Amino acid sequence: MARKNKRRIKITGTGFYVPDKVLTNADLEKMVDTSDEWITTRTGIKERRVVSEDQATSDLAVEASRIALQNAGLKVKDIDLIVVATSSPDTIFPSTACWVQKGLGAGYVPAFDLSAGCTGWLYGMIVAEGLILNGAHKRILLVGAEVLTKITNMKDRNTCVLFGDAGAATVLEESHDESGMLSSYWKADGSLGDLLFLPGGGSRIPTTPETIAQNLHYIHMKGNDVFKHAVKRMGEAASEALKSAGITKEDIAYLIPHQANIRIIEATGRRLKVPPEKVYSNIHKYGNVSVASIPISVHELYEEGKLKKGDIILMVAFGAGFTWAAAAYRW
Ligand code: COA
Repeated sequence: MARKNKRRIKITGTGFYVPDKVLTNADLEKMVDTSDEWITTRTGIKERRVVSEDQATSDLAVEASRIALQNAGLKVKDIDLIVVATSSPDTIFPSTACWVQKGLGAGYVPAFDLSAGCTGWLYGMIVAEGLILNGAHKRILLVGAEVLTKITNMKDRNTCVLFGDAGAATVLEESHDESGMLSSYWKADGSLGDLLFLPGGGSRIPTTPETIAQNLHYIHMKGNDVFKHAVKRMGEAASEALKSAGITKEDIAYLIPHQANIRIIEATGRRLKVPPEKVYSNIHKYGNVSVASIPISVHELYEEGKLKKGDIILMVAFGAGFTWAAAAYRW
């Protein structure tokens, strides 16, 4: 949707946190039948971060949130809603957002989780926009955090090389200048859910010793199919977001695709005819960290001084569901 009435939300603070432990491709070579060469050429990933046994998703989210609040010049008490996008919650209930509220000492602010696979943070931006512009909330803490390594079978070479752990947080408020979210686009196709899913542990297949023996508590993925849909849908979402913002690819300073695979990232850039130097990628450092990947990228670009006031970024994601979304944003 285009922002016809010109009221917009903006990001007033960003932060991210990754665990200290680094898992390199060389480490993975010792765990499964794979090679640095295969992982690098097929995915672009060189290393990823892994939590310690006692760290959960909310722990990463809390660390990231403290940094984002500091960068926004705000205190925890200034926040009036916490939304956590995640597919790897601390617990099925309460929500990870409630654990984050507790961890931050955020008082009684409402808190809920949003589940939209790797697209969750962008979905969260669109939800937050509605809540801020209709006057329900003033300052929303939107977090994307995942501990994917605990729901990945580290003996399955098809998935264990891909994922990493990270948390990223953003503070969102109404914009009072030209900056902010210019347009958005979001879609889902539930009929393809079983191409990328975690089958066990829910009400469809409750956990039993048998489901554990069958590894149903881990991510299951048809990588090739996901790949094809991701490239097509990310291209579609990005084009639609550009169109509804009334801008063209020439207007954007950076394309920030969800960091799933360097080949998906590059193919999305090619599809949109955005030159490679404008396509942001950090997948070599973190792997696929799902909902955290776009907000980490935004934070890095800003911290490295690569985003100047007025620059337009185009963010686009695809994930389990399937879900896909994009947003054009003026810095
Ligand atoms: N190391 C070495 N070989 C591996 C391997 C690994 N880690 N993982 C798979 N292989 C093997 C396969 O077993 C297969 O061998 P075979 O030909 O003997 O059967 C071969 O490599 C090719 O597998 P294929 O699945 O066709 O590879 P691919 O080029 O599609 O790459 C992915 C696999 C997973 C990297 C790729 O499909 C992908 O990135 N998909 C999207 C996944 C994703 O982003 N998911 C999250 C979306 S948000």
